[in-house]
Amino acid sequence: MCGIVGYIGKRDCADVLMDGLEKLEYRGYDSAGIAVFENNLIKTVKTRGKLACMKEKLETEGKPQGFCGIGHTRWATHGEPSDINSHPHSNGRVTIVHNGIIENYAELKTFLKEKGYAFISQTDSEVVACLLDYYYSERNPLRAITEVVKELRGSFALGILFKDFPDRVYAVRKASPLIVGVGDSEYFIASDIPAFLKYTKNYVLLEDDEIVCMEENGASFFDVHGLEIKKTVQTAEWDVEQAQKQGFPHFMLKEIHEQPKVVEKTLKSIVKNGVPDFSEIGFTDEFMRGINRIFVVACGTAMHAGIIARYAIENLARVPVTVETASEFRYMNPIVDKNDLVILVSQSGETADTKAGLELAKEMGAKTLAVVNVKYSAIARAADMCINTLAGPEIAVASTKAYTVQIAVLYLIAFRLAFARGKINEDELKKLTADIEKAPDAIAAILKKEDECKFIASKLVNVEKLFFIGRGFDYALSLEGSLKLKEITYIHSEAYAAGELKHGTISLIEDGNPVITLATQEDVLPKTISNMEEVKARGATIIAITRKETQFAENTVDMRFDIDNLLPDALTPLATVCALQLIAYYTSVLRGIDPDKPRNLAKSVTTE
Ligand code: G6P
Repeated sequence: MCGIVGYIGKRDCADVLMDGLEKLEYRGYDSAGIAVFENNLIKTVKTRGKLACMKEKLETEGKPQGFCGIGHTRWATHGEPSDINSHPHSNGRVTIVHNGIIENYAELKTFLKEKGYAFISQTDSEVVACLLDYYYSERNPLRAITEVVKELRGSFALGILFKDFPDRVYAVRKASPLIVGVGDSEYFIASDIPAFLKYTKNYVLLEDDEIVCMEENGASFFDVHGLEIKKTVQTAEWDVEQAQKQGFPHFMLKEIHEQPKVVEKTLKSIVKNGVPDFSEIGFTDEFMRGINRIFVVACGTAMHAGIIARYAIENLARVPVTVETASEFRYMNPIVDKNDLVILVSQSGETADTKAGLELAKEMGAKTLAVVNVKYSAIARAADMCINTLAGPEIAVASTKAYTVQIAVLYLIAFRLAFARGKINEDELKKLTADIEKAPDAIAAILKKEDECKFIASKLVNVEKLFFIGRGFDYALSLEGSLKLKEITYIHSEAYAAGELKHGTISLIEDGNPVITLATQEDVLPKTISNMEEVKARGATIIAITRKETQFAENTVDMRFDIDNLLPDALTPLATVCALQLIAYYTSVLRGIDPDKPRNLAKSVTTE
């Protein structure tokens, strides 16, 4: 959830930190702060509110002048968003920024109070600052950190300044992401690479319990015992333009428009000689033949991608698929064994519940496959096999392009599984692959009709609630369309299997309630149309997302958005989703909401 940054070098530290925080604001934006060594003293500026409030405060209070410091953007967990609860937190000789949750903070707080420490905030993070101070002696920061790491339970990425060392930034992590940027006589820490991409593409990944000490002339790495270790410097494939708006008013719109390109890139990375080929990562035909059942474990939008996967895999490959919300899967004592494949889908690769699901699946002997957008993430590294989706950095909180590439990959898995298990022959496999290769064009065709989506959005601006209905793949996609809309417009929206609405929820339909009906699946079209008519008869306003040639009875449909016939029915979600994303985006903008940073949400959820 929160984002942390740190810098030491020759640049204006406050500028570098603020720049980095801007790139990490997707991780949380209810308060922010920085601490910089100014003339060997730590100067801290922090405030409640988005980064814009922080910028104002720096202008009025004056920017700390120095070359070494840390910064934080917060998504509150312990204690409301307030100036006092904002990071950095200091106590005695130590100032810290923290991302994660300290599970044993209450008992540590009691212990520290007994030792005479006083607390001013309600955060778990302040406890870490005190504990570091408690263990700090003989001017030995490293020993203090190693002692503290042994005591903390939960997840943390910490950036730490010691008052006695105005030329050093320390950092350590456990179960929360932290990356060290390696520049030319300058070093960075950040929760994610885009925070320092402008300055360097070279980075070092910290593993759990590893510590870095950054000075202007070098960075040293240590294990949990304080012993120096060697780390490899890697180079990021992402570039700085990808993490900028490039003329779009919001990241979300830019990311929606990137979909033809990123879907093409992702498909190309897997398709070889006209067919999907996963053998490079050990996901071979032989392995596929041995799978009994598949579980897809994920959260939010990624879980919705899993529901599309279920329809695709069960239909084509006839392997039973269970889709579980990761937060349930991990505590439900699931029945999983060594013949099962557990697929973890995650944009960030850091979602705490998905990661825990992965660990549980491994403990139970299942093989694990990650479908992850961030190559260096914890889930990507911990799974037995990993497919890297190539959406590039996704900054807007509401996921768009990451979902589309996830479903593209999951379709390819379904195709190859079906072939490996003898459900389709090579020609059929080639045909399906050629079909999905048309997805970038099908998406581009939808994006050309952006104005139509905007028009539909203009009719939703003032509604209080709405419904999405659909059958089969359309139902699976409705769930995502509805989530997208409620995430960024705050309109209450529910998605229903079209045939299920009448079993209760139809009682909520009142005159004029919009019902967005997805009707792209030929095999169930007459049924979907009947369901649509049922709600129309109860006063609903029908917005149909359908194929050009679909005919409806007169006066049933109030508005329609037509999908071109570029993809077979089973693959239409790849295109249809873009219309739903645009409708949500424009409704959000027309309601005066910032779609990139909707209230209460964070992009990367590293807490349970
Ligand atoms: C958060 C985000 C969602 C996202 C979910 C899973 O809740 O707000 O947009 O779908 O986490 O994230 P992941 O990185 O695992 O895909």
